[in-house]
Amino acid sequence: MSTWNKKDLVGLDALTAEEITHLLDTAMAFKGVGERNLKKVPALRGKTLVNFFVEPSTRTRTSFEIAAMRLSADVVNITATASSLQKGETLKDTALNLQALRADIIVLRHSSPGSSNFLSERLNSSIINAGDGAHEHPTQGLLDIFTIREKFGRIEGLNVAIIGDILFSRVARSNIFGLLKLGANVTLVGPSTLVPKRFEKLGVKVRHHIDDILESADVVNLLRIQHERQRKEYFPGLGEYISLFGLTKLRAARLSPSCLIMHPGPINRGVEIDSDVADSSQSVILDQVTNGIAVRMAVLYSCAGGAGIPA
Ligand code: CP
Repeated sequence: MSTWNKKDLVGLDALTAEEITHLLDTAMAFKGVGERNLKKVPALRGKTLVNFFVEPSTRTRTSFEIAAMRLSADVVNITATASSLQKGETLKDTALNLQALRADIIVLRHSSPGSSNFLSERLNSSIINAGDGAHEHPTQGLLDIFTIREKFGRIEGLNVAIIGDILFSRVARSNIFGLLKLGANVTLVGPSTLVPKRFEKLGVKVRHHIDDILESADVVNLLRIQHERQRKEYFPGLGEYISLFGLTKLRAARLSPSCLIMHPGPINRGVEIDSDVADSSQSVILDQVTNGIAVRMAVLYSCAGGAGIPA
């Protein structure tokens, strides 16, 4: 019997370890589809997906579109500037109209934390959170965890360091919730203004010196500074940030040779990560992007009522 019976994916905080593992195993089954000549299965034929992005995106929007097309769904893309949100329509009314247009699945990216949950409680259409403010980005968390599991064969017991602007990062939150549920040791690293001690209540360690974690990390996941969400200065300047927290070539040389270097993108070369380090053999940044398709296929398939893991 399937361990998945949800119509929505709002966040990894709300999922059990079994549900997360179910999505990862389903993604593993779908990964092979992307490696075939004919990259398509009929699993969602006849279903309509609306990609509704109120914030900019390259990876997530494209990846959901490709995932839906590989499952044979029909896809419509809407951006904020081309929608009637510009004319004062509320998010709820816009979403109800998409439902009235018989959208089976609505993928939402929005700047307000809780926006996906708000719609999931009011609509019958499936709601998939593609990033809601600084709250969660569950498919990014899943694809990061999928990539780690693919490389190490497990999550339990691994030392994962998430480095950078944690305070404003939905990616960090989804990674923290998912990784802890699957038994990883998670350490958050950054300036005290962006990585306050109170995060320890979640069950992670907090460190304010990157040098403390380099030798012991199995995974380092670098996050960019989310300037668009910050309303004040959280550190004196970029030069100081780079010197204290940037993954420079010198620091990368201290990582274990098996340590994975990850980044959800978009990367700011020369800030949180040195350009050569981002392109190095230990970097799996583009593998993460590729894996995002299989993970999003698994999420769409499962939330649309797909039974079990496809053969
Ligand atoms: N990682 C991520 O969410 O990238 P986009 O903003 O390009 O979708």
